Amino acid sequence: MSARYAVIGNPIGHTKSPAIHTAFAQATGQDLTYTAIEGKRGGFAAEIDAFRAAGGMGVNITTPFKLDAFAYADRLKPVAQLAGAVNCLNFADGKAEGENFDGLGLTRDIVANLGVALRGKRILLLGAGGAARGVLLPFLHEQPEELVIVNRTLAKAIAISEQFASHGTIIATGYEALSGERAGQYDVVVNATSASLHHELPPVPASVFRSGALAYELLYGKGLTPFLRLAREAGVTRLADGVGMLVEQAAEAFAWWRGIRPETAGMINKMTVKLT
Ligand code: ATR
Repeated sequence: MSARYAVIGNPIGHTKSPAIHTAFAQATGQDLTYTAIEGKRGGFAAEIDAFRAAGGMGVNITTPFKLDAFAYADRLKPVAQLAGAVNCLNFADGKAEGENFDGLGLTRDIVANLGVALRGKRILLLGAGGAARGVLLPFLHEQPEELVIVNRTLAKAIAISEQFASHGTIIATGYEALSGERAGQYDVVVNATSASLHHELPPVPASVFRSGALAYELLYGKGLTPFLRLAREAGVTRLADGVGMLVEQAAEAFAWWRGIRPETAGMINKMTVKLT
């Protein structure tokens, strides 16, 4: 019987994960099925228990269940522990082990696919919610010169910088502090707010980008979001959305489950929507 995997979320109709993992399985010769489960709010644990009882070997977790998955895990990898959220569970040894590959996927996309080294660079991360928390540790591992987290609710950014203090320095600030001496300082600016979902623009000044900067929108497949438009109008020519991150985190999950890492470039090319 094929090994069973799935993605669980709500809503789940839009998910690209089954297509990605099915293509990975074909490309690597792995015998598995990967389906989508629309979970009921409050019903995560029961759904996962049933999936495991039916032979499920692992799941990806998307909105709104990443915190439920965190609570469900018997063991947590360090990135997931610090992020406070789990996007991948592995049931291989009879226990549920939780990991979060979002940050590693983003980092791989920036460094390996887009060819932008993060070492020694100045990084600005917009937002201090679940998405932002997941990328901080992988970013710190790249040893940037400076990592700044900016949030509308400053207290949340400060709390995160304190929580991560033993792993490296994260400067927490408010948007108003990005003008003045921080203008023109950032090589990589990542929008990890949920503003784009509502066609909103975080109050980031157009002056933050350094010459040659990369502007990265975590949301994918929406073309030019207000944040990417701001960057383009500020003269930024390196624009990216989260499609590469999506495919790379899927490849990491696949490798963790199956012990073989699929090639990602073809899939990213196929899924990329032009940013114009
Ligand atoms: P996610 O899991 O997608 O990160 P979240 O945990 O609800 O979602 O966090 C959303 C993030 O986007 C928060 O940092 C939020 O800022 P606040 O903490 O101040 O609420 C940020 N955000 C959402 N809409 C925004 C907007 N229009 N401008 C700036 N930041 C915004």
